[in-house]
Amino acid sequence: MAIETMPKPAMRAATAGMMKALVYQGPGKKALEDRPKPDITASTDAIVKITKTTICGTDLHILKGDVPTCQPGRILGHEGVGIVEQVGEAVTAFKAGDHVLISCVSACGKCEYCRRQMFSHCTTGGWILGNTIDGTQAEFVRIPYADTSLYPISDGADEEALVMLSDILPTGFECGVLNGKVAPGNTVAIVGAGPIGLAALLTAQFYSPAEIIMIDLDDNRLAVAKRFGATATINSTDGKALETVMKMTGKRAVDTAIEAVGIPATFELCQQLVAPGGTIANIGVHGKKVDLHLEQLWDRNISITTRLVDTVTIPMLFKTVGAHKIDPKRLITHRFKLDKILDAYETFGSAAKTKALKVIIEA
Ligand SMILES: NC(=O)c1ccc[n+]([C@@H]2O[C@H](COP(=O)([O-])OP(=O)(O)OC[C@H]3O[C@@H](n4cnc5c(N)ncnc54)[C@H](O)[C@@H]3O)[C@@H](O)[C@H]2O)c1
Ligand SMILES: [Zn+2]
Ligand SMILES: [Zn+2]
Repeated sequence: MAIETMPKPAMRAATAGMMKALVYQGPGKKALEDRPKPDITASTDAIVKITKTTICGTDLHILKGDVPTCQPGRILGHEGVGIVEQVGEAVTAFKAGDHVLISCVSACGKCEYCRRQMFSHCTTGGWILGNTIDGTQAEFVRIPYADTSLYPISDGADEEALVMLSDILPTGFECGVLNGKVAPGNTVAIVGAGPIGLAALLTAQFYSPAEIIMIDLDDNRLAVAKRFGATATINSTDGKALETVMKMTGKRAVDTAIEAVGIPATFELCQQLVAPGGTIANIGVHGKKVDLHLEQLWDRNISITTRLVDTVTIPMLFKTVGAHKIDPKRLITHRFKLDKILDAYETFGSAAKTKALKVIIEA
């Protein structure tokens, strides 16, 4: 009797220490589960209470089983903003209560690659969040190397806009615009008008290219591209994108061809679109081999670049958002609460029907 009426501290503590999280359960399977709140495991960690997160096309790749490093049982998500709940004793730049942006890439700040600003290749970090360690689609997340993987958010900043800075804005900018050497007066083609291609479109305009031609199969996304500043759009469903670009450019082709899809057909199109002296900047994650047409390109003085986003431009992008030079909030089409995250996946996963670009999930 006495035993039955006694409080059960262990059980109470466990319940109090639980949180909701979106868990990958193997190809094609996911669920909103109750999981233990993360703990500090290294002195350089921080625990962040998520306020807003989102879903990335890469999460859909994981769910298809395309990303073998991400094993069943993993909490997904690598984007978000939140409030620091707790920090390890070695964390000096942040304290409990700080408002922060989470980079999709964790950086130790000390290894050879980090010292070269290639955070994506950090020997003990890189893209691990929501991949090889639990991610941000939860009420709480453990962020390793907090000092160099979190960024402070100032009072009054727009959280929703800043969620776009965890991954897609730096990806479009670093892998597409910077690698593609977009310059004043240039002609740019962006193949793929998904969130990443549109992020490249927004940030390409920092450099005032004369023309930005957006190519996609989806008229809705092309209409969005037009509103975001594309000077021309091409629906390539008819297979005539090359012809149309040649007509538009007086047979000159483009100085920068940005690949933002990740399939052989679009990388091959970029090889046809690039003008002498131009650059093909690949952003897409490719799962299949693609032919390189050196027999056509060897004498054209072109460059081809690849890159995994390093997120080194987050501080600079912060300033451009703060100064209203770009408004990444325009990419947000839908909003959900965390307990409706399965609906958010459904909406995001059927973008052609729902016209979804980025969905905000409020934890
Ligand atoms: N390099 C990196 O660090 C990095 C980071 C994040 C994402 N990515 C990759 O960037 C790519 C784009 O991401 P997203 O989230 O915008 O993807 P998304 O799937 O939302 O968008 C892709 C767009 O390509 C269009 N498309 C498909 N086939 C096409 C074709 N044959 N011709 C023209 N358009 C076509 C689709 O209609 C869609 O609008 C993905 O491969 C993603 O994995 C790379
Ligand atoms: Zn992503
Ligand atoms: Zn490192």
